[in-house]
Amino acid sequence: MNDALFLTDKLACDHSLSLEEYALLISLRDAKSQQYIAEKAASVRKTIYKNSVFIRGLIEISNYCKNDCLYCGIRRSNSSCERYRLSEEEILSCCDEGYLLGFRTFVMQGGEDPYFTDAILCGIISKIKNKYPDCAITLSLGERSFESYKRLYDAGASRYLLRHETADECHYAQLHPKEMSFDRRMKCLKDLKQIGYQTGCGFMVSSPHQTNAMLAKDLKFIEEFKPDMCGIGPFIPHRATPFSNMPSGTAELTCYLLSIIRLIHPPILLPATTALGTLDEFGREKGIKAGANVVMPNLSPSCVRAKYELYNNKLYSRSESAQEIEELKKRIRNIGYEVVTDRGDIRLNK
Ligand code: 5AD
Repeated sequence: MNDALFLTDKLACDHSLSLEEYALLISLRDAKSQQYIAEKAASVRKTIYKNSVFIRGLIEISNYCKNDCLYCGIRRSNSSCERYRLSEEEILSCCDEGYLLGFRTFVMQGGEDPYFTDAILCGIISKIKNKYPDCAITLSLGERSFESYKRLYDAGASRYLLRHETADECHYAQLHPKEMSFDRRMKCLKDLKQIGYQTGCGFMVSSPHQTNAMLAKDLKFIEEFKPDMCGIGPFIPHRATPFSNMPSGTAELTCYLLSIIRLIHPPILLPATTALGTLDEFGREKGIKAGANVVMPNLSPSCVRAKYELYNNKLYSRSESAQEIEELKKRIRNIGYEVVTDRGDIRLNK
């Protein structure tokens, strides 16, 4: 029997493989194993979520960032990045527009911008919660202290996305400047979980220096941490970063990893990311067919969208914009799935 198919069956049954087996499963990817695992993953997701696809309205609140991650287009030393931050009024009007479009989750994402103190964020969160008590608020604002995460949670945010970026400490140091710490990142994720957030981690596929052994560690981390959400997308170089000449990841490997993650933790919320849609015209559809169950269209005001450029040619018009949500719904319906108006919480069998 083909080893990749055997390992896929084992994973579907045990929700666990050894580090060596994960690395082997990745290295054995070919057209046949890719299709086999995608079918398994799609059938597992259907037992929990049927054919529903959850939508999240992404509001990119600031591209100021105090960090200098080597891969990221909004790193502080990119002086060609035109900086912006949204006002409270602008953020609230994104929510108004999103609510009318059927969004019941708002994701406030941004660089690590010291302007957004706890007091400012708590004010915005409680205003959104007041106006839209039936909506979930997700934050994706990087590393903060336990106390800060707790205040934001108490103000009404219930989910937090913080990609771990890589579960290998040496690799972490190859992707980040010296002042950033792998241990601090991991502590933040544990703090978020402890506070009670639905917590999301994630990583880039084919980021510079990444090996299959490192990806195996990412998968083992997901197996053990059991995040509620996991964002993965292909690395895509940005022209004004030290990694400008590095190759992009592929949609195929990203989809294969989405399928593996679905089998590791069946109820996980798994987005077909913007980076996947940027790399491949049908990336998001391919991601959904491989086991993803979330899409995150952009609700940011159109005048700032181009400025939140994490990587070259980031998708921000066409069906990624909320105004074209109808087009997105149609595309998703075409592959046999349905966008639903629902908060889309994780369905754990507790
Ligand atoms: N390519 C793909 N993804 C990127 N991110 C940052 N820069 C890039 C890039 N060049 C991802 C990181 C970050 C998330 C917001 O975007 O994983 O956590």
